[in-house]
Amino acid sequence: MLGIIGGSGLTQLSNLDVSHREVVRTPYGEPSGAITFGQICGKPAMFLARHGYGHTIPPHEVNYRANIWAMWNKGATGIVSVASVGGIRADLAPGDIVVPSQIIDYTWGRKSTFHEGDGCTVTHIDFTEPYDRALCQMVLLAASDVGVPAHAGGIYAATQGPRLETAAEINRLERDGADLVGMTGMPEAVLARELGVPYAAINVIANYAAGRADSRDGISFEAIEGVLRESMQRVRLVIDRLAACHGEVDSLAD
Ligand code: HPA
Repeated sequence: MLGIIGGSGLTQLSNLDVSHREVVRTPYGEPSGAITFGQICGKPAMFLARHGYGHTIPPHEVNYRANIWAMWNKGATGIVSVASVGGIRADLAPGDIVVPSQIIDYTWGRKSTFHEGDGCTVTHIDFTEPYDRALCQMVLLAASDVGVPAHAGGIYAATQGPRLETAAEINRLERDGADLVGMTGMPEAVLARELGVPYAAINVIANYAAGRADSRDGISFEAIEGVLRESMQRVRLVIDRLAACHGEVDSLAD
């Protein structure tokens, strides 16, 4: 079953035909909210709002372990994470959609592994490719099927938040090779990998990153709201098509 995690601008999935909601208990505490189950285009899907349904949980306080564990426990065979980001690379303009291919993690102090605590043996995982290639391809194909342009690939910088970055920090991220910047991509991606759940992201450029283009003198939150409202309509189209494709793959595996 396809799992969708919605971020800022996507706290509900209007295209999900809801069957029920469930608050999942996990060994890691409470997820951000109840998981909503239902069907998208006739295929089973589940949805979770990363910041809570009332948008009350900031990026550094999201219980990523509980969220990913709960979706895995309820049978997610793939997770697509929708999140707004700032664009660093000059060709990434507000409203653009990116399916990133790499991550640099600048977050700190977050619970970022299931392999810790009493009785856990030291466990290392391969994370050379942080996103699942096949699922990324499926997202890109879905976007192309419904005529929604999407950038294939890009390096995502995960910052701690909740504040936005300084202009100098963005310059540093660019020197490091980052194309886009957001606050929630990690540890979500690595936790999904630890549980063996394919994970991909749909990032929506909400604004030029700090110090760039029309964010040279500051970032307008009002402008971000407008961009996200419009862009999430396109993301919904992609998710509709993706759910249909993912459902087909699931049925073949059954
Ligand atoms: N930086 C970090 N996270 C973000 C941004 C940004 O500029 N825009 C939306 N999420």
